[in-house]
Amino acid sequence: MVSTKSPEDAYTAEPFVPGRGGLAALRKAAAGCRGCPLHRDATQTVFGEGAVHARVMLVGEQPGDQEDRQGKPFVGPAGKLLDRALAEAGIEPADAYVTNAVKHFKFTQAEPRKRRIHKAPGLREMTACGPWPAKELELVEPDGSSFRVTQVRGTVLEEEIHGRRERLVPTVHPSAVLRAEDREGAYRGLVTDLEVAARALG
Ligand code: URA
Ligand code: SF4
Repeated sequence: MVSTKSPEDAYTAEPFVPGRGGLAALRKAAAGCRGCPLHRDATQTVFGEGAVHARVMLVGEQPGDQEDRQGKPFVGPAGKLLDRALAEAGIEPADAYVTNAVKHFKFTQAEPRKRRIHKAPGLREMTACGPWPAKELELVEPDGSSFRVTQVRGTVLEEEIHGRRERLVPTVHPSAVLRAEDREGAYRGLVTDLEVAARALG
């Protein structure tokens, strides 16, 4: 008999996630995650950064080239733009925890030593990696989070995530601002959304 279940269905970070411990233990465990094939070509796991009890959690898609090299989220051009937008919206760096839905950089490369080009993670990798951001959310317990959804951006949503009520403010991705034709307009939109999050914090 031929099984219809491909081994790829089994990709998950679950066995690597510690049952106990804080953010430091989680970060250490994530460094050794082999839950999906993305760890093979990437340099390192890029875990979240920020205060343990930050009031806002920002969740990006996945690390980019710079993040992969430095091992920290949002340190490249998108990160610089995000820092500026946060400051303008009045969100202190100490109030923000920054992370990604997928923790390893996915890319294509025409030849060795050629530029590595970002490739969007698939649903399979997002699902496999899901236990990491879920645990970060549980440990950081932010008062609100910013998510990458464009349709309902700039409003406070109440949603149940991993069994907990969370307040979300969806916004545009800083990388999309960098690519936008009307870059200034897109940037103003990001700042306005972050101001909504800042006000929601009270
Ligand atoms: N884009 C992301 O989604 N995450 C990063 O860390 C950097 C760029
Ligand atoms: Fe583990 Fe996520 Fe990296 Fe895949 S992308 S190996 S699930 S940390």
